[in-house]
Amino acid sequence: MTDSLTVRDNRTGQEYDVPIADGAIKAADLGKIKADEDSPGLAIYDPGFVNTASCRSSVTYIDGEKGILEYRGYPIEQLAEKSSFLEVAYLLVHGELPSQTQHEQWVHDITFHTFVHENVKTFMQGFRYDAHPMGMLMAGTGALSTFYPDARNINDHDVRYLQIIRMIAKMPTLGAWAFRHAQGKPYVYPDNELSYTENFLAMLFKMSEQKYNADERLVKALDVLFILHADHEQNCSANAVRSSQVDPYSAVAAGIGALYGPLHGGANESVLRMLRRIGTKDNIPDFINGVKNGDERLMGFGHRVYKNYDPRARIIKKAAEDVFEVTGTNPLLDIALELEKIALEDEYFVSRKLYPNVDFYSGLIYEAFQFPPEMFTVLFAIGRTPGWLAQWLELVQDKEQKIARPKQIYTGDRELTFTPASERWA
Ligand code: CMC
Repeated sequence: MTDSLTVRDNRTGQEYDVPIADGAIKAADLGKIKADEDSPGLAIYDPGFVNTASCRSSVTYIDGEKGILEYRGYPIEQLAEKSSFLEVAYLLVHGELPSQTQHEQWVHDITFHTFVHENVKTFMQGFRYDAHPMGMLMAGTGALSTFYPDARNINDHDVRYLQIIRMIAKMPTLGAWAFRHAQGKPYVYPDNELSYTENFLAMLFKMSEQKYNADERLVKALDVLFILHADHEQNCSANAVRSSQVDPYSAVAAGIGALYGPLHGGANESVLRMLRRIGTKDNIPDFINGVKNGDERLMGFGHRVYKNYDPRARIIKKAAEDVFEVTGTNPLLDIALELEKIALEDEYFVSRKLYPNVDFYSGLIYEAFQFPPEMFTVLFAIGRTPGWLAQWLELVQDKEQKIARPKQIYTGDRELTFTPASERWA
């Protein structure tokens, strides 16, 4: 058996042997196939990159058919149960688990870079009272690139490491301040005696108390949510982060911009709105009929990659139970549970392989923490930061990588003759 593909171009009758490596052919090899000498080579038309590999990566493995998600080879279930967000961040960035000394150094470094320059605070305070926290986070992250101009030296290992530490450390500070800004509350400075996630909760919710002590079950649940969101291979925002060899602050700002969009980071908000609209369990059958008739979508169900079960959804469901133990049950949870039960038995959803995804329960948890819906995507962004940085690191060190520059199929006019405005408007 030869690892190649024989392509016959019926326009010319010519045959081509295209090598197959790692289950893929190179699009550039297809570019050699031409109708005649002067015409451009064959291109692949693939909106949304549904079947185009843009890189080799060893960060995250997903098998959507089997419902498998692994970071650097470790199953997400084990990481969520037994690891911590900062250890997972180390794993993603460095490619392997830390020794005790490496872990202590990593946690120490991140803890002591949580503060931002006072001018960043002034800059954040300049936003309007009703600024969306994702806009503030995106701008704040981009602004960091101007505070650390050395970050442009992306070929220096030590410089790269320092920016990665800074970025992971400062994201909760920026995210919490964006939250406080909308509420008109004073920004809370980081408390370096607290863990990463405790400190984030303190910066969000601390008022006049000397020390903010979050319930440890809530800390654990939020830490697990960060772990679940930490990476998801070549998704929309990772693709934005990977598009050019810019400094990591600017790259992550681009990722935040992509995540901000409703097709990417915003589905958990839609789930909450849907559950509220359904209102009571009695209304579920009508709602399900509406979905089956194509009048609406069951938000939080279905996934482009997972066609079995989103492994993150199972873990989130458990985290939701832990959170509700502390905060009291959200009545919407009963509707969500009943919806899931009915949908998992219904032929419409079963035959289309539609299962709950990560967003089905995450919005309920965030609401229990008393986050407004605009903050949901900020939480996603904080969790995703180590993944974006791991993807960025791979990009800048990968000799095969080129600047992202897809082709297009041009559909506009050609070779028109320009008439000056003075003649056109006469
Ligand atoms: N409710 C009802 N029907 C659905 C749903 C849904 N949530 N999702 C897919 N379908 C149907 C769809 O109508 C189609 O049916 P038919 O074959 O009869 O036309 C079939 O299932 C295949 O759907 P598709 O649109 O081709 O699937 P896709 O892979 O392009 O879309 C999706 C994936 C996530 C956009 C879609 O499932 C969806 O819109 N889900 C609801 C929104 C949501 O929860 N998004 C969060 C995704 S997880 C976040 C992350 O991982 O970043």
